[in-house]
Amino acid sequence: MAYSKISLKIEDRIATITLTDPERRNAMSLPMREECLDGLRTLEDSGEADCVILTGDGPKAFSAGADINELKDRSVAGELSSKAALRRELPRLLETMRLPTLACINGYCLGAGLEIALACTMRIAARSARLGLPEINLGVIPGSGGTQRLTRMVGLGKAMEMITLGEPITADDAHAIGLVNAVHEDAGLLDAGREICRKWQAKGPLSLMAARDAVLASQDADLTTGIEYERKLFALCLASGERDEGVSAFLGKRKPDFRKT
Ligand code: COA
Repeated sequence: MAYSKISLKIEDRIATITLTDPERRNAMSLPMREECLDGLRTLEDSGEADCVILTGDGPKAFSAGADINELKDRSVAGELSSKAALRRELPRLLETMRLPTLACINGYCLGAGLEIALACTMRIAARSARLGLPEINLGVIPGSGGTQRLTRMVGLGKAMEMITLGEPITADDAHAIGLVNAVHEDAGLLDAGREICRKWQAKGPLSLMAARDAVLASQDADLTTGIEYERKLFALCLASGERDEGVSAFLGKRKPDFRKT
C-alpha cells in the first residue's frame, strides 16, 4: 500500500510511523487509520522491527483527533456497521500487536489522537504537548475506547473531569496523573523515545509481550483470573529459551542477548 497520510521508517530495527497531515493537525481520517493499520500489520509480518514509535509530523500536533469533516456525515446506522468497527481496530492493534508501541506525543493530542496514544504500551510527551478528549464540545463522546482506557489509566475522578469538561491538560499535568510516562523538552522527544525502544530491544521479545499482556489483563479480569493468566504466561516464558539466556547471563556475569535465542 502506498502511503500519503503517514510515513513509515525503520532505523536500527526501530520503526517510526509519523502521521503526516500537519496542515490539518494530523486529523485522523479514515484513510489515515487504514494506512496506520496497514503499516503496523506490515511491520508485524515482516519481522524487520522490534518496536514501533508513533508520532505526528510538525511541531503543532500529534493528532487533533478524528476528522471532524467525517464526523459531520456519520450516521447511526453507519456507526453500527462493521465498517465503523475500523475506528476501534487501530487502538486495539496498537495495544495487542506483537511489537511494543510507544506514543511520542508532540503538540496537540486530542480525541482519537489521545485514544490511540492511550492504547500504546507507553507514552512520552513533549513539554509543549496538550492532551485531551474534547468530543463533548462537539456534542459527542470519545468513540475509540477513550472513556474506558483513560478511566483505567488515570482513575474515575480525573477521567470524568477531562471527558465532561473537554479541556486539554498540559504535558506536566498529564505526567502527574500517570497519563504519560515522562515529559521531555520538545527537541529531545524522539531521542528519548528511541532510548526507551533500545531498552525494549535488550529484553526478550516473548517475555516482553507476556509482561505487557499480563498487565493488560489486569484491566479486564478479576484478581483470581488475572493471577491464573499470569501463571500461564510465566510458564510460557520458561519454555521460550529466554529464561535460560537471562539466568545464564546473570550467573555468568554478562549481559543477556535475548534476540539470539
Ligand atoms: N478534524 C478536521 N480538521 C481539523 C481538525 C480535526 N479534528 N483539527 C484541526 N483541523 C483543521 C482545521 O479545520 C484547520 O483547517 P483549515 O486550515 O482548512 O481552516 C487546520 O486543521 C488548522 O486548525 P486550526 O484550528 O487553525 O489550528 P490551531 O493550531 O489554531 O488549533 C487545535 C489546533 C487542535 C486546537 C484546533 O484545530 C482544534 O480544536 N481542533 C479540533 C479538536 C477536536 O475537537 N478534536 C476531536 C474531534 S472528534
